[in-house]
Amino acid sequence: KFFAVIPAGGVGTRLWPLSRAAAPKFLHDLTGTGSTLIRATYDRLQPISGNRILLVTGDAHREAVCRQLPELADDDLVLETEPKDSAAAIGLAAAILFTRDPETIMGSFAADHVISPDSEFQDTVREAIYTAATGKIVTIGINPTHPSTGFGYIQMGKALEIAGAPHAHQVAKFVEKPSEEVAEQYLASGDYSWNAGMFVAPVELMLRHLKANEPKLYDGLMEIALAWDTPERIAVKNRIWPTLPKIAIDYAVAEPAADAGDVAVIPADFSWDDVGDFAAIARLSSAKEVKDVKVIGESPRVFTEDSTGIVVTDTKRVIALIGIQDVVVVDTPDALLVTTRAHAQLVKKAVDGLKLNG
Ligand code: GDD
Ligand code: MG
Repeated sequence: KFFAVIPAGGVGTRLWPLSRAAAPKFLHDLTGTGSTLIRATYDRLQPISGNRILLVTGDAHREAVCRQLPELADDDLVLETEPKDSAAAIGLAAAILFTRDPETIMGSFAADHVISPDSEFQDTVREAIYTAATGKIVTIGINPTHPSTGFGYIQMGKALEIAGAPHAHQVAKFVEKPSEEVAEQYLASGDYSWNAGMFVAPVELMLRHLKANEPKLYDGLMEIALAWDTPERIAVKNRIWPTLPKIAIDYAVAEPAADAGDVAVIPADFSWDDVGDFAAIARLSSAKEVKDVKVIGESPRVFTEDSTGIVVTDTKRVIALIGIQDVVVVDTPDALLVTTRAHAQLVKKAVDGLKLNG
């Protein structure tokens, strides 16, 4: 009855110029493991769901995704004509699964996170599935380390005492991407965890909240889903998809469902990173070092002298670094980024400033 869903979209602008509209973050091997993020996500889910995995992505990524996941059947791919954010992507998967079997429990897992070890992740997801079966939308909670404004915050309530899910707790409140001031309060209170961006829930419950909060989105998605397994699929999708509202699942479902008492959380036992910027890549990567500079990619030659930092190369150019500390160099065929680890969060500014659209 369990079906995994991997929404793979977004541009990852803080990882520009490596992550682009044409080749987003999930298509890259960012940490030098030999597996791209989406490949690793699929492999991590397989022991739980077998090949019951739906991948939701843009038309533009179809080819790259199929190359990286050759075991995907046509029926396992849900293709969008344009990005409509996570509520549409996850909601469409929920609606398709519902029309096939309304009893399905789905789990949505971001395509672009680094997680280890897989076995701890799988134990946590199994607990989440047991908890979802009692009628909850289940999130995974990460111990926060700093007042990030890029995550959802989960306030933990009472223990739920569910057989097979000893760590499940009620969620008192879910707040998506709070201001810095609020994030600092949450961190100081010790009551909050970060939302790992995963949702395990009965498809019916997911859709009920979507319908209550975003009725236009719900109606559109259901209409597409009802035509999904018919020859009308493409025509109906092409007509309705462009009209759908663009909103994240966290606002459309998680926040209001938590207020209604329908959200639970399992604290994560695994290490988790959403690889938000190049500082994270420098931290996580197991790539080789040339003196004190970490080098990720295929460049034939990197020379370093009295320098520290990270080089990410996607070219055949020779790169030399002399006497600079904590540098971040990202070399791609048509764009070059030079910044420092401390400024890595600001890369988005270049993308916005140059109006690059990724
Ligand atoms: N197919 C598809 N289409 N997928 C999408 C789209 C889209 O238009 N937009 C986003 N996604 C996918 C992303 O690829 C990712 O797997 C997931 O939906 C979440 O979207 P993000 O855009 O990465 O969200 P976020 O990182 O800002 O915030 C979410 O993740 C955080 C943890 O990394 C939220 O769930 C936060 O609460 C959470 O803390
Ligand atoms: Mg993300």
